[in-house]
Amino acid sequence: MYIVFEGIDGAGKSTQIRMLKEWLEANGFRVETLVEPTDSEVGKLIRKILQRPDAQSDNVQRTLGLLFAADRMLIMDKLDDESKIIISDRSFISSMAYQEPAEWIEVLNRYAKKPDLLILLDLDVKKSVSRTSGKDTFENEQFLTGVKENYLKIVKNYEHQIIDANNGVNKVSSDIKKAVAPYLGICPDCIM
Ligand code: TYD
Repeated sequence: MYIVFEGIDGAGKSTQIRMLKEWLEANGFRVETLVEPTDSEVGKLIRKILQRPDAQSDNVQRTLGLLFAADRMLIMDKLDDESKIIISDRSFISSMAYQEPAEWIEVLNRYAKKPDLLILLDLDVKKSVSRTSGKDTFENEQFLTGVKENYLKIVKNYEHQIIDANNGVNKVSSDIKKAVAPYLGICPDCIM
């Protein structure tokens, strides 16, 4: 099973993935986690470009769209391992939400694997801005508002669960477990 976590910056994806992985392993599942952008040569280049002051400009976003698609292509083979649950921190769905135009991003990501389950950690934009210190500009708030709206539209095309990420870490974690349990035949009463 390929489970993808998505959400705007600061939504808590990495913490929640770690907690879900531990719980699934305690329930006897083998789990592998992935993060996009990856630590490949392309991923390293992406992280450098994300630091640019003009990172949100149209042409830099288009450049990133190309690089994110290339970076992800390099890990596609890993996703075919059916002996494990693979949980990914972001996927091509991030590109659909952050980069534009959608038709072009779709073509670039034609070979990207579709998730079996997409978990959207839905966070208020103002919380995102305050959690991700240093980038609290009006421009950033507007950008993330657009990304959040895109996510809410895109998820409808996939098997998905929307989780309210404004709650505390443990509440969010237990909501995620409840959402995932039916897909894996785990008894709902076993969830704390
Ligand atoms: P991430 O490492 O998840 O952010 P953080 O540094 O907060 O942990 O992702 C880095 C940034 O890249 C984030 O702002 C989202 C963006 N991104 C895209 O714009 N498109 C994509 O396809 C991906 C995978 C990430």
